[in-house]
Amino acid sequence: MFLRSDLDLVVECAGHEALRNLGPSVLAAGHDMLVASVGALADPTLETLLIDSATAAGARLRIPSGALGGLDALGAAKFAGLREVRYESHKAPGAWRGTPAEALVVLDDIERPTAFYEGTARDAARLFPQNANVAAAVALAGVGFDRTRVVLYVDPLATGNTHRIKAEGDFGHIDIAVTGKTLPSNPKTSMLAPCSLVRAIADLNQTLVVA
Ligand SMILES: NC(=O)c1ccc[n+]([C@@H]2O[C@H](COP(=O)([O-])OP(=O)(O)OC[C@H]3O[C@@H](n4cnc5c(N)ncnc54)[C@H](O)[C@@H]3O)[C@@H](O)[C@H]2O)c1
Repeated sequence: MFLRSDLDLVVECAGHEALRNLGPSVLAAGHDMLVASVGALADPTLETLLIDSATAAGARLRIPSGALGGLDALGAAKFAGLREVRYESHKAPGAWRGTPAEALVVLDDIERPTAFYEGTARDAARLFPQNANVAAAVALAGVGFDRTRVVLYVDPLATGNTHRIKAEGDFGHIDIAVTGKTLPSNPKTSMLAPCSLVRAIADLNQTLVVA
């Protein structure tokens, strides 16, 4: 019934499992879909299934900027030649509790910003699901999951969650950082993330769109 309705856009903000279970059928029904759970696309099987479903039905898969900024510049730089893309995440020790970070570093003993993980965006999305969405958005906007480097820091001085994109190429150099506060009602999620969905929906009806 829902899939047969005349819809401008389906917005997924329900979680990775919901995207895995329902995303392909939404796209296969020809509906454009805005995907908050972008980290799920680090699974190449799901990425291919979503893209193939959308392609076959002429639908589009849209990725919002979410908790970070700079994806527009990264996407433009890709056309001028991107050599290297790095995404850094700085969070306070408490934000890393209950994650594999605890096996790599003693969170309570950290006195200065300390990198505890460096690897590809694909591995980072799998090992650290709480950073998966941002790492995946950077990867999809730039040089892909296997060429994007991710560095995760525990930072006792952090006053919010800082997402930083650094990129190099023939175009020049990008260094963009966003330090976001989390939603008081949902400390897992940055305030900017739902706002970026609202912006993407609002843009559907705007004459002048800043992409
Ligand atoms: N792109 C980004 O930068 C970014 C930032 C934050 C969160 N996210 C992602 O957005 C998603 C939602 O995050 P959240 O913190 O709001 O999660 P949440 O768990 O707080 O909320 C998800 C809501 O979706 C509902 N839900 C689950 N399955 C559903 C279904 N099949 N149909 C309808 N509703 C369903 C749940 O009941 C819950 O109310 C997560 O995948 C999260 O990783 C992305």
